[in-house]
Amino acid sequence: MEPQKLMDLAREAMTHAYAPYSGYKVGAALLCADGTVYQGCNIENASYTPTVCAERTAFFKAVYDGHRDFRAIAVCGGKDGVISGFFPPCGVCRQVMGEFCDEDFTIYMIGPEGTYQTASLAELLPYGFSGKKYMR
Ligand code: THU
Repeated sequence: MEPQKLMDLAREAMTHAYAPYSGYKVGAALLCADGTVYQGCNIENASYTPTVCAERTAFFKAVYDGHRDFRAIAVCGGKDGVISGFFPPCGVCRQVMGEFCDEDFTIYMIGPEGTYQTASLAELLPYGFSGKKYMR
């Protein structure tokens, strides 16, 4: 899939965000190895800590449906859904990526006006705790 299409799907996903507390809307589009795309948004909670990020919403939907092999994720976010800077996934979401993805998994961090930056999971999660390395 073209990166532009994946990024369009992330921007669309951002409109689904439930963010009444922070007002910060986030969208993600996760590309599986077979070409399937799962979209996710952040879903906040009055008790704050139950909040789930857009990236994890996308991953958990995909894993529930049986996917284990992923290629890339596009993410964007901004106050009231207005993208003002490149969006870097939080540390918890990077750890979830590390559970399922190889080091060359690609993260498209969307910025304003069609701009974006890319990084590999190896770049975003150096020295990550890995079950494959340490728990088997
Ligand atoms: N958020 C995400 O959805 N993904 C991230 O990687 C970082 C933060 C959400 C959580 C919360 O609803 C809002 O952004 C502000 O932190």
